Order: sequence, then C-alpha cells, then structure tokens
Amino acid sequence: MTATPDAKPLKGLFISTHGCQMNVYDSERIRDVLKPLGYAPVEAPEGADLVVINTCHIREKATEKVYSELGRLKQMKLASGGKMTIAVAGCVAQAEGAEIIRRQPAVDLVLGPQAYHKLPEMIARASRAVGDRLETEFDTVEKFDALPKTRDPDGPAAFVSVQEGCDKFCTFCVVPYTRGAEVSRSVDDIVSEVRDLASKGVREVTLLGQNVNAFHGPAPRLAGGADWTLGQLVRHIAKIGGVERIRYTTSHPRDMDDDLIAAHGDTPAMMPFLHLPVQSGSDRILKAMNRGHTADHYRDIIARVRAARPDIAVATDLIVGFPGETDADFEATMQLVRDIGYAVAYSFKYSSRPGTPAAEMHGHLPEAVKDERLQALQTLLRDQQTAFNQSQIGRVLPVLVTGKGRNAGQMHGRSPYLQAVHFGGTDAALNQFVDLRIVGASLNSLTGERVRARETAS
Ligand code: SAH
Ligand code: SF4
Ligand code: F3S
Repeated sequence: MTATPDAKPLKGLFISTHGCQMNVYDSERIRDVLKPLGYAPVEAPEGADLVVINTCHIREKATEKVYSELGRLKQMKLASGGKMTIAVAGCVAQAEGAEIIRRQPAVDLVLGPQAYHKLPEMIARASRAVGDRLETEFDTVEKFDALPKTRDPDGPAAFVSVQEGCDKFCTFCVVPYTRGAEVSRSVDDIVSEVRDLASKGVREVTLLGQNVNAFHGPAPRLAGGADWTLGQLVRHIAKIGGVERIRYTTSHPRDMDDDLIAAHGDTPAMMPFLHLPVQSGSDRILKAMNRGHTADHYRDIIARVRAARPDIAVATDLIVGFPGETDADFEATMQLVRDIGYAVAYSFKYSSRPGTPAAEMHGHLPEAVKDERLQALQTLLRDQQTAFNQSQIGRVLPVLVTGKGRNAGQMHGRSPYLQAVHFGGTDAALNQFVDLRIVGASLNSLTGERVRARETAS
C-alpha cells in the first residue's frame, strides 16, 4: 500500500469471531466499515488498538467463552496502559446488552448484530467519553444501506448475506431474540455485492441467512412485481459472469419449495450440497421443538432433492437430550440418520437457554444421559461421513483452490460437496479450479492428484 499525504496512520484491529457463518460475514463487514478510519487487521490481540469479539449465544458454553476471553483482554488492556478499545459485538451483545459492561468493566462498547455500521460513531463517542456505549437496535435495512458498497474478498469463495433474522421460534433457540425478525435484502443490493466480488476474482458464493430459503427479497427494480424467492435469486446470480458455484445456508425444511429443489437439478452453478437441519427424528420431540414438520415430511423432502440431484451431499444439525426425550425418541433420531445417510452433520447436547420456552419445560435430562446419546449419535455420524468421503475415491472432481498447505508444494481447496481436498501443487493454482483425481479419503478430508489444469470460465 502506498502512503498518500492525507492517509491516516494505521491502527491495529483484531476481530475474534465465534458462532455461525453469519458472524463470519459480519466480521468481514466490520473490517470493511473500519477500513476508512485507518484500521488494518492484525494477527493477534496483543497491542491492537481495537479488539472486537463477535460473539455467539447459541449454547451456554459459547456464551461463557466470551467472559473468559474478556478476562484475558482486560489484562492486555492494562498492559497497554488502557489504550486498547474493547468492543463486544454479535448475539451475546444483543442478548445481554449493558450486563456485559457490568460484568466486565474493561469493555468499552457493546453492539448487536444489526448495529455494527454504527461502530465508527461509537468509537468516536468512546474516545471523547461521551454518549451511549450500547447499540442494540434492530434495523437491518438501515445497516445494509450504511455498509460500504465494495468489499475486499479473502479468496475465491465468499459469503453474501441475503436474509437475516428468524420468525420460526423453535422452542430451544435464542436466534429469533438475538437476530430479530426475518428481513430479506433486495435482489438489486445482493446482485451488486456479488458483481463486485466476482470482479475481484470470487468464483464461489454462499448465500447466507438464518432461514435462507425463507428469502423473499424485493424484485429487481427494472423487473418489478412480487418479491423473489431463493430459487429465483439463485438462477439470477448464476448468470453473473465469473460466478461458477453457488451455495446457500442454512435452510429450514418448512421453506424448501419445489422451485428451489428443481434448481438443484437444472442450474449447473448450484453445488450438490444441502444443509437441512432436522434436529430430531421423533415427531413428538419435533412438535415440542415447534419445528413445524414431521420426520417423514423431512424424509420426503430429501427424497425429492435426491430425485433432482442424485449425488447431492446432505448435511444436518441434530440436538440430543431435548427436555422429555425418551430412549424411543432418541432411537427415532438414530433411525432417521440411518435412513438419510449424511455426508456431514453437526450434533449438540441440548443446552437450556434463558428466555426460551424449552427452558421452562418439564423433563430436563441429566448430563450423563445427554453425553451417552451424543456419543452414540456421533459414532454413527462419523461412520457416515467417512463412508461418504471414501465414496469419492477414484472420481475426478473439480476443486476450487483456496489456500496453501503447511508444507511447501501442498495446496488445498474444496470439492463440489464442500469437502476439503489436499494435493501437491504450486501457488499458480491458487484461486483457480483444478481437476483432481481422488486417491485418498479420511473423516475430514480427501487427497487428490492433479489431472490437468482447467480453463476457468471468466
Ligand atoms: N438457523 C439455523 C441454525 C441456527 S443455530 C436453523 O434453523 O437450522 C445452529 C444449530 O445450533 C441449530 O440447528 C441447532 O442444532 C443448534 N442449537 C440451537 N439452539 C440450541 C440449544 N439451545 N441447544 C443445543 N443446540 C442448539
Ligand atoms: Fe433457531 Fe429454529 Fe430459527 Fe433455526 S429456525 S434460527 S433453530 S428458531
Ligand atoms: Fe450464534 Fe448468533 Fe449465529 S447465536 S449461531 S452467532 S446467529
């Protein structure tokens, strides 16, 4: 970077990101918001001028982590002579607000997920020691309007937030309270962000939302008419030059419409991967969770998706030990997992969250029962994941090269099925597609050998 006479001196910014992909996206945008103020990312919090913890409230453990991290930061702040500014952003900030400053007075600023565009203003106020140190208003539209219109992508794959918030109110979940009601961005807004990213070399975009398939964003201004669905959005983005791969996450079974399912079969850029959380295989528990669908309804959706795209990799989220879950309910979850056959899955012990309906239910289970069930479930899931990875051996897969390995001559990337693939290659392959023959597979990754370079369609 060349210094211009009026360039502000660089200030060190460290962002610590927890939780889901929404937070990963938000942390990138926080970086974008702070760039014009002269903040540049640094590798460690020590000596940083500003540290932002982007927090997650989903399970008790996630929330507790924040306070232990803040304890460590307080020491660094003292060591810096008080020069470090500490900001707490994200879902814990939204849920606990001023309580955070009360529990850890070293915290300077607290801002919810819909307020981070106000950071510059808040930092200015904090430096003058005037005004509010807390921003937890919900104004998603204002936030997107206020964010910088261009981004600096980190590599060939990028997240793009298209929908935020959740109206589903699953009885175990804090997200509707921390992220607010469902709001979709306009198609024009999303398209201009994707075009900007594609012009900077991004080849794979993952459309993000807490309920991304509930997307109903205003149609393009020139097209007019009713709001668009996610299926329409995907087909539209597939036409943007440079975008070769499209993914979306996380979706809800209730919003899996026919058009979106069809797009998996008829839109080549749509990647063969679907993350569709099911949480439980027991209809009784699904009802108590307020999921709004049965286990068979879920099986039927997966069957239809597989009819459209037979090789699709299916991923899910599961909770064991929801209040009142019996051995029979748990067995129903195991059976559903056996029936579907997951490529990857995230499984959790139920964690009681203050303010959610499930926290007040009867039949909370002992930790030991949850542990035992989680272990049994994870053993089954690991077997399925390994089997899925091994089923790729012998195939040639197009891999988008996203980074260098630890040793010279090693590179890695991701397969269409979102698997990590390691291979021998040079930096020249970085950010490109390569065709790799899969020669090895383990629980977490594949090993490939270069077949030949592929022309990218840019
Ligand atoms: N919006 C997404 C996921 C939100 S949170 C969806 O609806 O699918 C990510 C996952 O965390 C959930 O799918 C669920 O499996 C898990 N989770 C949420 N609340 C939880 C709780 N109280 N205890 C344990 N796991 C929980
Ligand atoms: Fe939480 Fe349910 Fe909303 Fe997902 S759909 S964010 S699990 S309330
Ligand atoms: Fe956590 Fe908030 Fe995401 S609670 S999972 S960071 S939406």
